[in-house]
Amino acid sequence: MTGRPDKSAPPALDPEHFRRLAHEAVDLVADYLAGIDAAPVFQPMSPAERAALMQEPLGSAGVAPEAVLERFRSAVLPHAMGNGHPRFFGWVNSPPAPIGVVADFLAAALNPSCAGGDHAAIYVERAAVRWLMELIGFPTEGSMGLLVSGASAATLIALAAARHRAALQDGWNVRAEGLQHARPALRIYVSPDGHSCIQKAAEVLGLGVQAIHRIAADERHRMDVGSLRAAVAADRAAGKRPFCVAASAGTVGTGAIDPLDGLADVCSAERLWLHVDGAYGAVGAALPSQRARYAGLARADSVALDPHKWLSVPVECGAVLVRDGRLLREAFSLVPDYLRTEADRGFGGLPWYSEYGIQQTRGFRALKLWMTLQHLGRDGVRDLVARHLSLAQRLAGLVDAAPDLERLAEVELSIVCFRYAPAGLRGNDRALDALNKRVMEEVQASGAAFLTQTTLRDRFALRACVLHYATTESDLAALVDAVRETGARLAAG
Ligand SMILES: Cc1ncc(COP(=O)(O)O)c(C=O)c1O
Repeated sequence: MTGRPDKSAPPALDPEHFRRLAHEAVDLVADYLAGIDAAPVFQPMSPAERAALMQEPLGSAGVAPEAVLERFRSAVLPHAMGNGHPRFFGWVNSPPAPIGVVADFLAAALNPSCAGGDHAAIYVERAAVRWLMELIGFPTEGSMGLLVSGASAATLIALAAARHRAALQDGWNVRAEGLQHARPALRIYVSPDGHSCIQKAAEVLGLGVQAIHRIAADERHRMDVGSLRAAVAADRAAGKRPFCVAASAGTVGTGAIDPLDGLADVCSAERLWLHVDGAYGAVGAALPSQRARYAGLARADSVALDPHKWLSVPVECGAVLVRDGRLLREAFSLVPDYLRTEADRGFGGLPWYSEYGIQQTRGFRALKLWMTLQHLGRDGVRDLVARHLSLAQRLAGLVDAAPDLERLAEVELSIVCFRYAPAGLRGNDRALDALNKRVMEEVQASGAAFLTQTTLRDRFALRACVLHYATTESDLAALVDAVRETGARLAAG
């Protein structure tokens, strides 16, 4: 045996070959990003193109990397989701910050597992998560946060911690017993606009949909504090066990922010866990002019926040922030013998991330967050948010000024909800629902702009979320034109 590494065994690449291939990939990405705004936002795939991808057999002989890259260029790149385009206003999907794209490449090159240990990636994650906490005014002392795939995973972790604490308060241990014994039914309080991931988490945690108590909201879709108080009292009287309020700081429908301070008062009086779903909206708290709307966020027991939304960190990058770091560790820590380490010995390091959540092997998500936040700086984060808030107001102005458009909700953050409503159809909600659904589908397929839908007071709403760092007022005008032209054409037909 020689001591030389074998650089020819697949999938190894000779270093010079790797350099050439990676340069080629960088050129491809740079050209793609440079030309993105001139291309259609979205290009539906033909049945043949879909089949070619889905049914392609894996060859027995390997293929040259250049040929694989070429296949990506011809078969994948033209059919990107579209969220890199400045006229993409769908769901809550931002474009990737270019530095985040580079970071993902660097992270893959190191390929650490961030389960824990004494290597730089762990400390990068500690710093990046602390920066998130500081940006939104969440207390850092004694808290713990970790990066996960997104707010769905963050919510699952947060609610598991909440369930653990509730059991401890009642003198039992849910980790030991599970939910196999007769106990009062746990109840969690959510506004009608609370995200579906809260219900999913409740289901996965064995609480069932029945655990979800929907609390009435005001006309701006914010949870009503008085109704919450009454619901908790009624549930207690009925022998149920209230344990958690899952509030929203930016609902996915309209961007509504629940009255967090009032909810925090109820939670502290009733000894309930306050979870805040700030997947989309929590970053708004970074803006001093918006801080008052987020009062109470600092009193939350947990927050879900997605850097892969407003901060443009490439997916997947979600964060769960928990006020009581010790409790979170208690809710998840399970260290098998073969992973036992000591802090200052060998690979030891800080308490491992794998003790605070579900995953053992964890990717180096932190690098793209760490690099994107440094590139933006605190001022850059604020400017990004402020810009989107103001563009959303501008879009609402365009909608309000158009005689054939009707706005369906207040603009709370960067989301505008409206519909195409020509004079002849006003008041006919069902006809407008059907028409607007087709308007949305045709605008999406046209490639001119991209927006999605929500349902507001039982009416179909077109929903545009401004989240691209490069969107301009002319992109807003293009969206409005696309909707009006498509609407007029369909209504005439
Ligand atoms: C308000 C809100 N909460 C939770 C989620 C779920 O987040 P993720 O898709 O990152 O799991 C979303 C996703 O759009 C959201 O907008």
